[in-house]
Amino acid sequence: MNPNRFRSAASLRLTLAGLVLVTAGAGLAMKSSWSDDTADSVIFHGNGKAPGCVVCHGAHGEGGGNGAFPRIGGQPAAYLEAQLRAIRDGQRANAVMAPSVAGLDDDRLRAIAQYFSRQEVGTYPPAPEASQARTSRGYRLVMFGDWDHGVPACADCHGPALNGVAPAIPGLTGQTAGYLSAQLDAYRNGQRPANALGLMPRVARGLSPDDITAVSTYIATLRPGGVMEAPAAPEAASWKPRAQSPEDFTPPPDTAIPEGPYGDMIRLGESIFNDTPTGASKYVRNDLSCRNCHLDRGRLASSSPMWAAYVHYPEYRKKNRLVNTMQMRIQGCFRYSENGIVPPSDSPEITALVTYFHWLSTGLPVGIKPPASGYRRLPPPTGTPDRGRGAVVYAANCAMCHGEDGQGRVAGGRVVFPPLWGPRSFNWGAGMHQVDMAAAFIRANMPYGAGGTLSEQDAWDVAAYVNSHDRPQDPRFVDDVETTREKFHAKHRFGYYGRDVEGVTLGTPAH
Ligand code: HEC
Ligand code: HEC
Ligand code: HEC
Ligand code: HEC
Repeated sequence: MNPNRFRSAASLRLTLAGLVLVTAGAGLAMKSSWSDDTADSVIFHGNGKAPGCVVCHGAHGEGGGNGAFPRIGGQPAAYLEAQLRAIRDGQRANAVMAPSVAGLDDDRLRAIAQYFSRQEVGTYPPAPEASQARTSRGYRLVMFGDWDHGVPACADCHGPALNGVAPAIPGLTGQTAGYLSAQLDAYRNGQRPANALGLMPRVARGLSPDDITAVSTYIATLRPGGVMEAPAAPEAASWKPRAQSPEDFTPPPDTAIPEGPYGDMIRLGESIFNDTPTGASKYVRNDLSCRNCHLDRGRLASSSPMWAAYVHYPEYRKKNRLVNTMQMRIQGCFRYSENGIVPPSDSPEITALVTYFHWLSTGLPVGIKPPASGYRRLPPPTGTPDRGRGAVVYAANCAMCHGEDGQGRVAGGRVVFPPLWGPRSFNWGAGMHQVDMAAAFIRANMPYGAGGTLSEQDAWDVAAYVNSHDRPQDPRFVDDVETTREKFHAKHRFGYYGRDVEGVTLGTPAH
């Protein structure tokens, strides 16, 4: 018998006074089979130094100990594996469980992670009681975030019902409020390492201690696979319209949407904006929603906000050599960004969107072009953007969410991370296909939750990489790619339409 085993068992008891019984009991159970070190044996009987996983986390990884031991069943395997490595190597401090993974090699950790990932969890800790104020603040953080403090909605990354998005993002449902808030505190204080993009520490630092309590309590009331319902509306806000400066404008809070037909139309517009393939299904032929490129539901100053757009139309546009009304401008985004069919300008969809934008711009003077309108272009790059360098930037900063293949990710039947190229993305006529436009958008807003962290050169290179893949044909296509390129793409600096990349002419109708 290795004496170390006793030492680690003893220190385990010291760090874990409350669990002495559990661990001591498991210590006996593991003795018989500790030398059989298959993954199963570790899971059920331990590694010879400390108890098996199921002692604390339950046979299906459902969690236990009143939330001291988190749910791990059904979580993405790659996420679990990353946590197991971090706990084994001491980057994620966990004195309670470290002995259970000590000495296990990467292959074994992977096999254990896969086992728990396959489990279906059926029972959850009881839902906590929460005050209405806390529930509604928690719900708002989950659904809308707090962009003033740099916090995107939890659901934007953790999936529509917070059930996680493989490979990297865990589900939050089925954990207790205590576990969730402890993790948020640990991220906030730098005690828990995050993945390479550092997303969660940013999110957690944007939350106040009250926010952490509210969001953790609210999430603990949700059930995996369940549907999230809006809690009763908070007290009507005492918000009053007032004139504001276009330099520093805040759109009204959505608690200020009035009742009645005008308010209903605003709400319809907002819902079409947030889920366009569903809300305007007749007119959309890809997986993109307006909000994918106009973040925070069209409010965010750094991503061509709709309040800023509303007040500078009608406007002359070179793209179609016409004075464009707001209706026509929106039709343009349907035709190109949505790779769709143009809705009639008096259709309910266009009316709803225009009404939503009109309301968002409450208090903003008309006839000026606010500095926030459009995407703020970057200074020109030194040299031509390099798609080879961009591929490296992409793998490190984007693939986690948008996929190695750029096709995005779906969870719970909904597109969580939109496709960046290919048949379900925007087409060759969309503004985003221009490398300078994409570089501007990406630099300010991506990686999601960490906008502004890429260097300008990285943004140019990754924009070149994204936009040098094929996508749906330019709807203005005439005759052949060469003619179409001459006619509509000649002026685009660094444009890829009609160019040969890896033996393929981009924009060729067959693609
Ligand atoms: C003695 C109890 C105990 C045992 C045995 C144990 N764990 Fe844990 N585990 C914990 C505790 C406590 C935490 C939460 C620590 C924290 O708050 O960060 C945890 C956290 C985890 C996490 C991180 C969960 C997440 O959502 O990030 C994973 C994964 C995990 N355990 C897997 C395992 C596996 C696999 C085994 C068996 C090899 C195991 N644990 C054995 C107590 C235990
Ligand atoms: C920009 C994407 C993003 C957003 C937004 C986001 N998260 Fe996360 N979250 C992640 C990623 C990625 C991980 C796992 C890897 C890591 O630690 O970075 C994670 C992990 C977590 C964990 C640890 C789970 C566990 O099992 O230990 C908690 C808790 C959490 N997030 C809560 C939240 C809450 C609450 C919000 C909203 C206020 C939120 N997250 C918003 C990306 C995000
Ligand atoms: C943490 C996940 C995450 C990461 C990492 C990430 N994105 Fe995104 N990206 C999103 C989400 C979510 C949206 C949609 C935003 C919304 O709807 O609010 C988006 C939207 C986009 C869009 C516009 C919509 C589309 O489909 O074309 C582009 C372009 C984009 N991202 C490029 C990138 C690039 C390039 C990187 C790497 C530098 C990157 N993203 C990293 C989550 C991510
Ligand atoms: C793939 C990304 C993408 C999607 C999806 C998208 N847009 Fe846009 N949108 C853009 C780009 C790029 C611009 C041009 C911004 C610029 O010129 O700086 C733009 C501009 C606009 C403008 C004009 C802004 C201004 O200030 O002039 C409006 C209005 C608009 N979009 C509405 C919509 C609506 C409504 C939808 C959904 C039906 C939508 N967009 C979907 C990328 C997108």
